Formats: sequence, structure tokens, C-alpha cells
Amino acid sequence: TSIALWGGRFSSGPSPELARLSKSTQFDWRLADDDIAGSRAHARALGRAGLLTAEELDRMESALDELQRRVDSGAFVPIEGDEDEATALERGLLEIAGDELGGKLRAGRSRNDQIAALIRMWLRRHARTIAAATLDVAAALVEQAEAAGHAVMPGRTHMQHAQPVLLAHQLMAHFWPLMRDVSRLADWDVRADASPYGSGALAGNTLGLDPDAVGRELGFSRVTSNSIDGTSSRDVVAEFSFIAAMIGVDISRLSEEIIIWNTQEFAFVTLDDAYSTGSSIMPQKKNPDIAELARGKAGRLIGDLSGLMATLKGLPTAYARDLQEDKEAVFDQVDALEVLLPAFSGMVRTMTFDTERMEKEAPTGFALATDIAEWLVRNAVPFRHAHELSGACVKLAEQRGQELWDLSDADFANIFHDFLDAQTAAGVREVLSTEGSVNARNGKGGTSPARVREQIITAKGKMAKM
Ligand code: ARG
Repeated sequence: TSIALWGGRFSSGPSPELARLSKSTQFDWRLADDDIAGSRAHARALGRAGLLTAEELDRMESALDELQRRVDSGAFVPIEGDEDEATALERGLLEIAGDELGGKLRAGRSRNDQIAALIRMWLRRHARTIAAATLDVAAALVEQAEAAGHAVMPGRTHMQHAQPVLLAHQLMAHFWPLMRDVSRLADWDVRADASPYGSGALAGNTLGLDPDAVGRELGFSRVTSNSIDGTSSRDVVAEFSFIAAMIGVDISRLSEEIIIWNTQEFAFVTLDDAYSTGSSIMPQKKNPDIAELARGKAGRLIGDLSGLMATLKGLPTAYARDLQEDKEAVFDQVDALEVLLPAFSGMVRTMTFDTERMEKEAPTGFALATDIAEWLVRNAVPFRHAHELSGACVKLAEQRGQELWDLSDADFANIFHDFLDAQTAAGVREVLSTEGSVNARNGKGGTSPARVREQIITAKGKMAKM
């Protein structure tokens, strides 16, 4: 039968409606292992404070071992009347250790400091899994960038052809945000690494327990400095939630690109069969579902963050039951990312590019107009005029339905005649190639092959240090 952790001052049990509303085991049971670890550390703290004899501590630890075994095997699970995971585990402990001994463990702790500690423990562990999975997507991008060599493609702003870029450069543009997400998780852990255990309900404990020792046993290197803050702040949870949402957004941006490249009109990329899906009615279909699910889940990850922030914004300190709502948001995010990221890296790792087609498209749409302007600048034409002259070249080519390199020497001489003689003007042809254009962008961080090679080396060095 179920037990309540409170009830002494109540003349009746909770109404069924309240019990149904209040219950959280359906989502917080996943904190059970961390709760038992916390109970072990707390039992030892009680022992050191002289509140459990050596013999009692011994029996308590065996009972917790047995409880853990039952939880692992599924022999012990929450029942209808258990309010939350802590209530369920207390029931389990009493069943094993008996009321007399089992009833001693709750001294000096509250579910408020417990739950605040457990959510940190759980998130810190999953932050490492997510960091590794994010790093794997980043690694897949580097592999593709290396394989792409000097292949070029149209670089776009506003989705319009802008300037040719290396495919590798474009892929690496998605690598860096993901690396920042990985380092955000590491930075976050520094702030998450403080144990609220020992804060009690809000004001600390009177029993001479040693929170530092408990925290150390639970993998924390320090203890929160204020028991009210420790039990009622959830900025650590919210910050994690932001990073999870940001990973979703970064993956979604890449997804959108892949989805567009995968259309028949672009036909830049082909997805591996193992990472695409078909249609139940149209036999020819091969769909980029992983990228679409990533794009879709990003919305949900943002929603989880928004919901959590809204829950937190009006809360007075210290603990209020609203805080129970912090968990589902981040559980949902972690569940989503832990299935999404491995599928996503598989898709990225196995996609193949039609580099011939990309190369053909790279210089079209007057993408070399900036190169003309900058060539003019190198020939002493002030940029303001150079921009105009290059624009005149575009206008003429557009009128004729031609590309820039189709203009004749006489056309260039004509357009540039206020600044350059005819022979010099014809020299503009040397920059009217994709290769010339990308090679020229050799400032640090630019798209020239030498700079991109350098970028990939820096990237691999960074990954090796993660
Ligand atoms: N289940 C609660 C939570 O997840 C912890 C219990 C605190 N309950 C209370 N009445 N103080 O936040």
C-alpha cells in the first residue's frame, strides 16, 4: 500500500482529483537511481553526525542496495498512490528496512533540496551524452569538408547567388556553431556543479550534517552557498534548456540547407538510402525526413525552453510546487536530442554531393560582380565608382540574357572608359572565373582553399581537445 510523506496534521487523505494532479512519478521516476545515490550519501552523513549507529548505517546501505536491485530489475515500481519518485522510494525502503530503520533516513533533508540536487545530477550526466553526440555531428561535417576538397558552390545571401564559396567552407560554417554548443555545455557544467543537498526545505538543516561530503559523493565539487537559492533557483535548468534549444536551432539551420539542396531543382546533394524515407503512395519518393524531423523538433525544443522560462518568471522564493514543472521540459529536450543527433550525424556522414553541378552554378547569377569591383579597386578606381561600374556590367549582361564573362572586351572598355584604357579594361577577365574568385578571398576566415585548409586544421585541433 502507498504511504504519504506528510499527513500528521491532516484528518483525511488527498482527494482522488488532487492525487491525480499532484502525481509526478510518470515522469520523475527516471530520477530514481540518482535519488538512491543521494540517499546513500545522506545516510553516511547521518552516520557521521551520530544519527545512525555503525550497525544501522550498515543495514541502511544494504537496504538501499536491495532497493536499487529491485528498481533495476523492475521488481519495484511506483504505484498509483505514490506522489513522486521520492515518495515511491521511501515506500520501497520501508518495505525492505522496516519502519524503524527506514524511517530514519528522511531526517535533515527535504524533497526540496533532494529534487534540486537530482535534476542537476541527471542533467549533468545527459549533458555529456548530448555533448558527445553534438561533437559527432561536428566531426561528420569536418569529414565531409575534407572530402569536398576544392569543390565550389554558389554562396548565397538572402538565398540569392552572392559570391562563389568552397563547399567545404559552407559545411564548416555549420561546424563552428555546433562546437560553441559543445563548449556551452562544458561552461554550463561549471555552474551546475554545486550541490543543493543539505539546504533542507529552504533554510538549511539543524542536524550537523556535512553537505560538502554529500555533494562530493554525488559528483559535485562544491555546495550551493545559500539554501534558499539552492532549493528554489532553476536557472541552471533553464540554461541547460537554452543550450538544448540552441543545438536544435543549429541543427535545424543545416537541415533547411540540406532539404533545399536535396530538391530536384537544386540537386546538389543525395541522401543515403539508409537515411531517407519513402512514400506510402508515391513509389518514386525519397524524402529527407531526418532533416525535416530535426527542423520540426527544433520548434519543440524552443517551446520547452519558453514554457520553462514562463514557469519560473513569477515565482517568489523559496520552493513552490510550480517547480515540479521544470522536469518534463528538459526531459523532453534530452529525449529528443538523444535520438535526433545520432540519426543526424549518420545522414551528414553519408550524403554525397554533385560537385560538378555545384561548380557549374557557382559563378552564375552574376556572382562574380564583387570580383569585378575589387579588381577595379586594385586598378586604383575608388570603390564607390567600382561598385557602379560593376553594376553597369551586370545590367548590360542581364539585358542581353548573358553572364558577365560573355561581355566583350569592347563592352568592358566602354563601361570602364572614364577610369581605364581599353587594354587595361580587358584585363578584368582574369578575375571572371570561380577559381580566381575563391582564391582571391584569402584573408583569415575566407573561402580560399588555403584558408579553408587552415580552418579545418584548427577545427580538428579543437575537436581533439574536447
Ligand atoms: N516532486 C516535487 C518536485 O518535483 C518535489 C516535492 C516537493 N514537494 C513539496 N511539497 N515540497 O519539485
